[in-house]
Amino acid sequence: MQPDPLSYDIFNTNSPKTLPRNSIMSRYLITGGAGFIGANFVRYLLRKHGNEANILILDALTYAGNLENLSEELKHDNVEFIRGDIRDEKLIKRILDEFDPDFVVNFAAETHVDRSITGPQIFLETNILGTQNLLEACRCAWLIRHDENGKPIYRSGHRFLQISTDEVYGSLSRDYDTPRPLEVSDEVMAVAKNRTDLQTFGNGFFTENTPLAPRSPYSASKTSADLFTIAYGETYGLPVNITRCSNNYGPCQFPEKLIPLIINNILEGKKIPVYGKGENVRDWLYVDDHAKAIDMVLRNGRIGEIYNIGGFNEEQNITIVKTVIDIVRQIMDSEPAYRELLSHPVEDIDYSLITYVTDRPGHDMRYAIDPTKIATELGWYPETPFDEGIEKTVRWYLDNPGWVRRITSGDYRIYYDKMYSNR
Ligand code: NAD
Ligand code: DAU
Repeated sequence: MQPDPLSYDIFNTNSPKTLPRNSIMSRYLITGGAGFIGANFVRYLLRKHGNEANILILDALTYAGNLENLSEELKHDNVEFIRGDIRDEKLIKRILDEFDPDFVVNFAAETHVDRSITGPQIFLETNILGTQNLLEACRCAWLIRHDENGKPIYRSGHRFLQISTDEVYGSLSRDYDTPRPLEVSDEVMAVAKNRTDLQTFGNGFFTENTPLAPRSPYSASKTSADLFTIAYGETYGLPVNITRCSNNYGPCQFPEKLIPLIINNILEGKKIPVYGKGENVRDWLYVDDHAKAIDMVLRNGRIGEIYNIGGFNEEQNITIVKTVIDIVRQIMDSEPAYRELLSHPVEDIDYSLITYVTDRPGHDMRYAIDPTKIATELGWYPETPFDEGIEKTVRWYLDNPGWVRRITSGDYRIYYDKMYSNR
């Protein structure tokens, strides 16, 4: 059962919790923390910093937000939840005044490219106006005074981190039919010690200096949010950072996105829709590695800087689809208890489930991050090899059939029919 959001409201005098406050605890406002990456980040923070992190999660609980993602975390004394919208000026101001976070980490967004194509408006409202509302509230709450030259002076120790995406850079070309070994510099290799499985489909990579060239309504809205974040840093001197990450995968991802959609369709015996020829390439990163990068940027990133985060892990969609089919089949064959999850015979799990469908309009061909900056400055690298991360992910979905069932009944079915029935 989902907890009642109001029972976690810090503004409710009957709240069962009062967040503890002391000088060694860092206070985090995590917006969009009931979504996929936000919830995994909260889990990571609690694992890594335990009692030193005081966390307030703000989430509007749209179709993508799910308090079940936080069921364990919300039992923690240092974690509170408020249901609310990042566009709500009064609410955000009140949170900044009363909770007074050291770190504001903005995950809240509309995130699905296909939805942005069928209905772009909400992407502008949430991703652009919502982000600007947060920035403005931080500017007002953290300002002490202006110096004699009119330069704003802010209280020390505060930081706004905008969680952005590699999609702001647009699309790279795919130069090879089959992947080639990826060669990285000695200084990056010295950091990424255990990674020997690096591959690429092209010669170009996104660095922090790559010109912004978004191509979908989603990426255009994320780019605008980045530009506002940069503008608040440049014009008002607000302490900001931006991280731009590649495709994440892992537990709790909403099954509109490719990997959980494949797993769910296999379990339901439904065809797996592959856009176009399945040749588009994404750079897949296990979500915990993203969480670790965000934590490192908050602690040690240089104020005002942008950091790219990527998996060293390019793969074409059709190979991702086949890999997931193989893993599910192998688990079902070797651990027959899981077959209870199937609505069809295990023998049906093979590549005949794949169906090629009309391509996504403006479909970006390839994303590939060059993470040299974060590797060399902060010592981060993607620790989880894809074969390990993808097996963990598949097992999480098989081990949490209730989570999957509750999400994929109701509105999800309407969404799925609308998106795929005439494709
Ligand atoms: P998600 O869709 O799973 O979660 C988004 C969360 O934001 C949900 O909990 C939703 O309820 C909340 N939200 C939406 N509108 C809101 C509003 N107006 N006010 C408050 N909360 C609101 O998304 P995700 O995959 O976890 O992505 C999180 C962030 O990371 C996004 O900013 C996204 O652009 C970025 N990102 C995602 C990926 C990826 O592969 N998923 C990669 C790079 C960057
Ligand atoms: O690169 C980071 C981005 O990754 C994030 O900013 C976005 O929020 C996140 O949704 C993701 O965007 P993509 O469009 O790359 O992810 P998606 O899972 O929707 O699609 C991955 C690839 O798989 C893409 O090339 C489209 C393709 N695809 C997707 C779906 C849902 C299919 O072929 N069939 C499908 O049914």
